[in-house]
Amino acid sequence: MILSKKILQTREYILSKAGQAPEIGLILGSGLGVLAEEIENPISISYDEIPHFPVSTVAGHKGRLVIGDLKGKCVIAMQGRFHFYEGHSMEAVTYPIRVMKAIGVKQILVTNAAGGINRSFKPGDLMIIQDHINLTSQNPLIGPNEAEFGERFPDMSEAYSKKLIALAKGVAAKEKVKVVEGVYAGVLGPSYETPAEIKFLGMIGADAVGMSTVPEVIVARHCGLDVLGISCISNMAAGISDDTLTHDEVIETTEIIKAQFLQLVKGIIIEL
Ligand code: 6GU
Repeated sequence: MILSKKILQTREYILSKAGQAPEIGLILGSGLGVLAEEIENPISISYDEIPHFPVSTVAGHKGRLVIGDLKGKCVIAMQGRFHFYEGHSMEAVTYPIRVMKAIGVKQILVTNAAGGINRSFKPGDLMIIQDHINLTSQNPLIGPNEAEFGERFPDMSEAYSKKLIALAKGVAAKEKVKVVEGVYAGVLGPSYETPAEIKFLGMIGADAVGMSTVPEVIVARHCGLDVLGISCISNMAAGISDDTLTHDEVIETTEIIKAQFLQLVKGIIIEL
């Protein structure tokens, strides 16, 4: 693999600090960064000290990599991610995924907080992502193909690994953590949707909606990483419930679901 100088410099910096090469990447969404606190023998690297890394700006997103052991596996966690709505380019949003690939990660777990569209869902549900709909009108692979990572026209027929979905459902059943399954619609934000937009998203097959994940998963599949996605349904989307939406509510719900989320993810890591 011939990697760009930028990626190589980022990789060298992270590996020089980490000491060991992680196999599993964790991308922790709004309010879900607590998982990084469970990592043993952690090495934390603030995004602003990593060569070529973008810097996160959203409240509730810490902005650091944490590398260490989780349930006997070496993991690399992103505590805080980059969003297009912050003004980052798609390249910047997905840069950490390629860095993970370059340092030897094989599987990634992508998490997010999402609004529930499926009326059978409730705030606090954990949704295993079966598939996504890219509604961003963007694609992180636009531009010359980065052939060292993957092909020009990557297949997306199994964006979320069927094997990992089955594994996650098995763990949920064993650990008695309630999970639901569904399709994640990825939009740009930062405004939440109107009720009419949510009605449309429901009609085209979306069960939940959020402002992240899709770009990262496209880049992950391009470079051959296996993906598992979990959404925390932090609130019901506009028009599904009469409540107005606030980011505070998103964070409050993730607080409530924290213990279940940690139990599920730790159970999954053991079996990876
Ligand atoms: Cl309702 N919409 C979007 N786009 N993102 C969200 C959300 C809703 N709830 C949490 N994140």
